[in-house]
Amino acid sequence: MSDYVIAIDQGTTSSRAIIFDKAGSIVSVGQKEHEQIFPKAGWVEHDPIEIWDNVREVIGQALSRADLTRHDIAAVGITNQRETAVVWDRNTGKPVYNAIVWQDTRTQNIVDRLAQDGGVDRFKDVVGLPLATYFSGTKIVWILENVDGAREKADAGELMFGTTDSWVLWNLTGGTDGGVHATDVTNASRTLFMDLETLEWRDDILEVFGVPRSMLPEIKSSSETYGSVEASSLLREVPVAGILGDQQAATFGQAAFDPGESKNTYGTGNFLIFNTGEEIVRSKNGLLTTLGYKLGDDKPHYALEGSIAVTGSLVQWLRDNLGLISSAPEIEDLAKTVDDNGGVYFVPAFSGLFAPYWRPDARGALVGMTRYVNKGHIARAALEATAFQTREVLDAVNADSGVDLQELKVDGGMIANNTLMQFQADILGVPVVRPVVAETTALGAAYAAGLAVGFWSGLDELRANWQEDSRWEPNMDSDERERQLRLWKKAVTKTFDWVD
Ligand code: G3P
Repeated sequence: MSDYVIAIDQGTTSSRAIIFDKAGSIVSVGQKEHEQIFPKAGWVEHDPIEIWDNVREVIGQALSRADLTRHDIAAVGITNQRETAVVWDRNTGKPVYNAIVWQDTRTQNIVDRLAQDGGVDRFKDVVGLPLATYFSGTKIVWILENVDGAREKADAGELMFGTTDSWVLWNLTGGTDGGVHATDVTNASRTLFMDLETLEWRDDILEVFGVPRSMLPEIKSSSETYGSVEASSLLREVPVAGILGDQQAATFGQAAFDPGESKNTYGTGNFLIFNTGEEIVRSKNGLLTTLGYKLGDDKPHYALEGSIAVTGSLVQWLRDNLGLISSAPEIEDLAKTVDDNGGVYFVPAFSGLFAPYWRPDARGALVGMTRYVNKGHIARAALEATAFQTREVLDAVNADSGVDLQELKVDGGMIANNTLMQFQADILGVPVVRPVVAETTALGAAYAAGLAVGFWSGLDELRANWQEDSRWEPNMDSDERERQLRLWKKAVTKTFDWVD
């Protein structure tokens, strides 16, 4: 029996391969960043070929760093940035255009057009999502309408669409030579095309969008053998047996399997997922209804999600566009040079505002500026923006679910920032808890794959792997918390109506 499972995490800024052992501990990691392409304001693209090359490379890194071969690996799991759309030619295997990334707002006019008949919520009851640039469906439409020859090829059945899980799966299992064209329910639930109840593509919605069904991957569960790795790979013949969108994977990796359990991931953006079990809960407070996971033939688990577009990427922006810091972790040192935000609030509505506002017309604002303010205050305001946005999402979760969360499980890169985590607990008024294995996204994908091949026996074994590492207790009096929240909300209103 092989002793390990490998997870491929195809994320927004990098691709990683992480090998886990049976205890869910990390054995080795391979990682490579890919280029962020910004052709115009509001546009964000990735090169799918670069991503696939990087995936191959990081698999090699992870195996060689642990001195392992394919014989040691029981299964491959895939997790991914979710709504990023790739369209490729099924005969050549070449993308017809760069991947259009989830943050990209170019499809606003397509959204407006589709919303003319019935508003942005016209499909929400069926798919759980409002019409928004965020989701992959509108990005496919843009490619079909703007890339020379794409419409004709799509109508002739020559094009394939996939989020990056499908792109990786298809290539990993052979590409033009018999690659498997599939996705899992969690990724499918981010397209705008999947019926939450039947877990199938909706032909009526596809027709409204003008997307041929032949382009779409087959929808599968999150944990089953989809195929095995092709012959030229270092992982030759290993079963690919798990797929979960990255936020759902992190929820799974946090062992939040049951209704009422949740997690918040601090990545490029922040994503709070709240498990609603077998019940489909339709939000009245600006949250998305989405798939949580589906294990083989078992019933699906659903979730409510609060998606925040810009959190960690604000720190990157301060580094790359303003040069305020030279590396992301420096933000904490800079923030610690001051005692508070100096009255400054930074609302990073760079892609409009996602949950709970859903305001595509919003753009970023830095408010409360005086001559007193220095770069330390701005750094602090940038960190606090993450915490305030999370507070607003948590309020929506509490309102939708009717119960108040008693603590928040966290993961993702920014949780290394102690100042942020303390402020997060302060502004939420509940403890914030991190697990020992904070790489929960990759772990969740490994779990899904390992369960499918019998590497792990079931959810109880996975639950037993979860261990608390640290906990931040709230330490701010409630008047101060409410005052800061009031100012934050006022700052948010300053970002509205900024698109002509
Ligand atoms: O919905 C977008 C999300 O899946 C991207 O996550 O961690 O790659 O920024 P991340």
